[in-house]
Amino acid sequence: MYELCPETPDDTPEVEALYDLCFAPGRTALSSYRLRDGVPPVAGLCMILRNDGVLTAAIRYWPVRAGGRRALLLGPVAVHPTAQGEGLGAYLMQQSLARAQADGWERVMLVGDAPYYSRFGFARLDRVEMPPPTNPDRVLGLELRPGAWVDVAGPVTREPAPDAAPTPRAPCAPADPGAGATKGPER
Ligand SMILES: CC(C)(COP(=O)(O)OP(=O)(O)OC[C@H]1O[C@@H](n2cnc3c(N)ncnc32)[C@H](O)[C@@H]1OP(=O)(O)O)[C@@H](O)C(=O)NCCC(=O)NCCS
Repeated sequence: MYELCPETPDDTPEVEALYDLCFAPGRTALSSYRLRDGVPPVAGLCMILRNDGVLTAAIRYWPVRAGGRRALLLGPVAVHPTAQGEGLGAYLMQQSLARAQADGWERVMLVGDAPYYSRFGFARLDRVEMPPPTNPDRVLGLELRPGAWVDVAGPVTREPAPDAAPTPRAPCAPADPGAGATKGPER
């Protein structure tokens, strides 16, 4: 049975091990990690899926500024290799993006494969610049409020003033990853 839970500090070693397993060595050398250094993640949006207690998938979000505007940086998201292709990644994307929208976030960005993330509504951000070296084709955005990316241009920088009172974590809940269709949040 799957359970969707917020990531807590107790989960962190397991989540880091999952990321190490799923990504190439040296993942923390990527420029996107420099935007995360010393900045707390958005605790209410960092979620994990456990299957009978075993950590199977995880997603995290950080606050950043894009062209000076508040935005979410989605990632990393990873699913254990033995469970990939079963809809768990899509489920975590849908659940966390819906929560982000409900929490009032207006825009989300990530660095990733457009062929995967386009199914959730992500599209290339032509005027938003990630720190080099980043392939501009992999800089993607999603509007949680219509038009939220329209006037945004410029470099992505660290959030200078993370929320002092982060949104609370939701309690764990039974999850049915196979039930949902792949789509983005309601807009
Ligand atoms: C990418 C990842 C999170 C997707 O989660 P998942 O649970 O395996 O994927 P889902 O079951 O939700 O979706 C499966 C679909 O996504 C496609 N897909 C998976 N990874 C993809 C990628 N990198 N590019 C394009 N399509 C991809 C699959 O081909 C499949 O397509 P289909 O629906 O047409 O058959 C997971 O495969 C993973 O952890 N990969 C290793 C880490 C990683 O690459 N993370 C993302 C960095 S961009």
